[in-house]
Amino acid sequence: MANPSLLILPGDGIGPEVMEQVKRVIAWFGDKRDLAFDVSEDLVGGAAYDAHGTPLHDETMARALQVDAVLLGAVGGPKYDDLDFSVKPERGLLRLRKEMDLFSNLRPAQCFDALADFSSLKKDVVAGLDIMIVRELTSGVYFGEPRGIFEEGNERVGVNTQRYTESEIDRVARSAFELARRRNNKVCSMEKANVMESGILWREVVQKVHDEDYPDVELSHMYADNGAMQLVRAPKQFDVILTDNLFGDILSDCAAMLTGSLGMLPSASLGAPAANGRPKALYEPVHGSAPDITGQGKANPIACILSFAMALRYSFDQGDEAARLEAAIETVLANGARTADLMGEEGGTPISTTEMGDAILKALDASL
Ligand code: NAI
Ligand code: MG
Repeated sequence: MANPSLLILPGDGIGPEVMEQVKRVIAWFGDKRDLAFDVSEDLVGGAAYDAHGTPLHDETMARALQVDAVLLGAVGGPKYDDLDFSVKPERGLLRLRKEMDLFSNLRPAQCFDALADFSSLKKDVVAGLDIMIVRELTSGVYFGEPRGIFEEGNERVGVNTQRYTESEIDRVARSAFELARRRNNKVCSMEKANVMESGILWREVVQKVHDEDYPDVELSHMYADNGAMQLVRAPKQFDVILTDNLFGDILSDCAAMLTGSLGMLPSASLGAPAANGRPKALYEPVHGSAPDITGQGKANPIACILSFAMALRYSFDQGDEAARLEAAIETVLANGARTADLMGEEGGTPISTTEMGDAILKALDASL
């Protein structure tokens, strides 16, 4: 059987720097775990604009639709700030998400013990935290029509429309329930059914999908504003949180910060299963291209490496190997390895991007 295929798009700024370490990790799994991937690499974002005058070449897009998973670094940077909106680096990423129809965005918030002091919350509130936010990514108020700024009488009105069809809610609900079955069998769905009709429909459809096909999963519903309060009060009450695009944008950023640095946060965006049963999938760190530290060897590669761990788990059915990689990172952090972004007030000497990669490979070797 052919090896699973992986398209790597390092992008801009620190994207290529952190991706360099991911490539070493991928090679390690090929060498030591007999888990070989057909890896190809291409340009996205500003790098693609520089080469082709477009942030995503059609050929790259076509390739992304063929492979089993795409792994992306980051896009953007000050060099591209004055470009026309239509060719901005971010458009490359948006095109990928749209044409791959990646409707389910997985954002884990996981607290590594060694970094529990890093949280702005009390240590016992976050220690051991491991939750997953499933955010609907391709519909809702960021896409609904009508939208725009219109003249109305003698003033202007800004309009956006929150809109969800039953099938859009149905498919993202299924992805959350499937995920819950692989975790702790618990989903909390968040909307504002008290003040929004789209929320009423959301709640109804989620409940129906649950009752018909996932009665074994524990389901609760919560208003999203209360959800925000509960997330900072007692986040460990949750396992999988299912929510829409707008609330998910905010709640996932909020949950992420419970656990510390941007340099630690992975994500996955999944679409419908392809013919081989694997979902269309894009894995990327949450952070951007970090122009302030680009080229200085300071970037933390862990967010991008953890994104590859998610790929192992969700695209390649290698949950044990994903856990091996996560455990190696846990070990390295427990041993005190820190890139600059992970330095607390007590100071110390940070290690470089490459040194963090070295340490993780060493811990992987030790896991054999
Ligand atoms: P950013 O995430 O690039 O950086 C925010 C801060 O976090 C900076 O101080 C940066 O040095 C630090 N940081 C980020 N990742 C880090 C890592 N791995 N290790 C250590 N420190 C890290 O967000 P910012 O500054 O708002 O945006 C910079 C550029 O990135 C912009 O062009 C923006 O449009 C783009 N961007 C791209 C994203 C993507 O590709 N998905 C997401 C967010 C921003
Ligand atoms: Mg956001």
